Amino acid sequence: MQVHVDRERCQGHSRCYDLAPEIFDVDDLGNAFELGDGTVPPELHDKARLAQTNCPEHAIEIRED
Ligand code: F3S
Repeated sequence: MQVHVDRERCQGHSRCYDLAPEIFDVDDLGNAFELGDGTVPPELHDKARLAQTNCPEHAIEIRED
């Protein structure tokens, strides 16, 4: 699984970071980005999906391998 934050859509609600800080971080402006290359280990897949569901801007894209 790979996650990607669409920076155009992200409005800095920070729910992704609150729910899954192992996967996301926020920059100085409060906008999120994926850590590393966005690869999510299997034990964090549920958290990634939870973050995606909770983003009000639908800014989180998930690609299932
Ligand atoms: Fe941005 Fe959505 Fe996270 S708006 S900060 S990607 S919850």
